[in-house]
Amino acid sequence: MTANELRRKYIDFFRRHGHAEIRSAPLVPENDPTVLFTTAGMHPLVPFLLGEKHPAGSRLVNVQKCVRTGDIEEVGDAVHLTFFEMLGNWSLGDYFKREAIHWSHAFLTDPAWLGLSAERLAVSVFAGDEDAPFDAEAFGTWRGLGMPEARIARLGKADNWWGPAGRTGPCGPDTEMFYWTGTGPAPAAFDPRDGRWVEIWNDVFMEYNKTEQGTYVPLRQKNVDTGMGVERVTAILQGRSTCYETELFAGLFDAIRGVTGAERPQESRSGRILAEHLRAATFLMADGVRPGNVDQGYVLRRLIRRAIRESRKLGTTAAVTRPLAEVVIDQYREVYPELGQNRAAILEEMGREESQFAATLERGLREFGKLVDSFPAHVERKVISGRKAFYLYETFGFPLELTVEMASERGFQVDEKGFEEAFRKHQETSRAGAEKKFKGGLADNSDRTTALHTATHLLHQALRRVLGEHVKQAGSNITADRLRFDFTHPERVPPEALAEVEKIVNEQIRRDLPIEVREMPYGEAEKTGAIGLFAERYGEVVKVYRIGDFSTEICGGPHVAHTGALGRFAIRKEEASSRGVRRIKAVLISEADA
Ligand code: SER
Repeated sequence: MTANELRRKYIDFFRRHGHAEIRSAPLVPENDPTVLFTTAGMHPLVPFLLGEKHPAGSRLVNVQKCVRTGDIEEVGDAVHLTFFEMLGNWSLGDYFKREAIHWSHAFLTDPAWLGLSAERLAVSVFAGDEDAPFDAEAFGTWRGLGMPEARIARLGKADNWWGPAGRTGPCGPDTEMFYWTGTGPAPAAFDPRDGRWVEIWNDVFMEYNKTEQGTYVPLRQKNVDTGMGVERVTAILQGRSTCYETELFAGLFDAIRGVTGAERPQESRSGRILAEHLRAATFLMADGVRPGNVDQGYVLRRLIRRAIRESRKLGTTAAVTRPLAEVVIDQYREVYPELGQNRAAILEEMGREESQFAATLERGLREFGKLVDSFPAHVERKVISGRKAFYLYETFGFPLELTVEMASERGFQVDEKGFEEAFRKHQETSRAGAEKKFKGGLADNSDRTTALHTATHLLHQALRRVLGEHVKQAGSNITADRLRFDFTHPERVPPEALAEVEKIVNEQIRRDLPIEVREMPYGEAEKTGAIGLFAERYGEVVKVYRIGDFSTEICGGPHVAHTGALGRFAIRKEEASSRGVRRIKAVLISEADA
């Protein structure tokens, strides 16, 4: 069965059971401040999971584009992907555990649908803990369908709980389905640690809302959120051990063979990374992301640059991004029309990013080679200084992660803290120059973007002061000319309030507050009361930017060194963005223009 057939069957099956098909939401969340990317089908549906009425009804089915970058280093093995598609059926306060499990079982095993052998299936259910009880209903339903007790694992929150997508929100126990991919019959008992049992579907039963205080309060509306990965299940249906052996990647590998001359790119890590990353990059660009130095743009840049470097390992310096992006667009445009609609822009921008990077890559690689060769062999702890890593970034466009990766391949470490320091120093020393350029209106794009990024933090905090603490970032978009900031607030902001916000921001600029950055574990950052949380970074070390005594915010940066560099802040527009979300557009005016 092909991936196309799988998608079609899934949608058909659930339509027959009263579900309305909805389109995939974009990869960049429109109104969710807690994540950079849509990492699961539930993100775009959060308002409806919390009780808002969905125009298409209470039973939905979709295939959602997702990006998860947490395991980017693992890409190239059999299973990890940064981009994937997820099939899902949804109950918004409609059916619950029994129906969801019955339909999952029927879709998986009925010969009219996937026809997988029930003998090779196992499941897990939530074992219960101090927050929520053992999921006896899910357990009982599986038993009723003939699932032997030994094939039902009872696991804790780490395995059988999903959500919330951010720090707070809808969540609940889940039941996961596994398929035996080993040779010969499946063992009688299910051992979740045995990797030959591969997870193929996850039914989440959203019964709780996790609050700011960390407690779990039963939701009035109980929902079902299920997720089935298209790539993984396609591989299983075709008896393959990885999705790189399915038709989903065949066209990409043909193109890679054509460009690089590599004979079996699907079997090499480099070939897989190249195909995987450029597939992800093409989808991101179709949703409007452009290579840049912050947030989504930085991730995109990293994917493209990493892919190009892998193409060098396959022995070519020829341009690879455009031919591969073309394959992706042609292959997926029917399911995701935005690819076809943005074809010209995607190819052009992709090509531009590649030629920019390629122009310095060779020299950078030579420079890097010299650098590591200059270390005497007897030195035990080989560390590349932050200053040198910054030099590679600044001069040759090597994202820090790329340097770290290349270093570790040669047994080196990189002083990442030192890199951040060098970065900051550079910003400080270039500040004087940047300010001058600013006055003449000549500041380059990245300086202007950085300044607007800092202004966004000031605006966010000022809005909270004037309108109240309910104001939360719900989206942000910065170009070299303006900032756009979406935030939660129920009604129009009156002109007097806007004037007050503007005044507060300009006061902070006049005070020329220093901007400091500190890295700390997410949990500690939370305790400082920092705003602007990114759930994707949960459990990781995050950067906390403090602007004097005025604002503390978790953010990837970069920012200017002192607020005095910003010029004058002016709000240009206040309007509705979506229900409960307002949008402000604002600019920084240099003294010369003012
Ligand atoms: N949200 C769940 C997951 O991502 C089910 O869709 O696995």
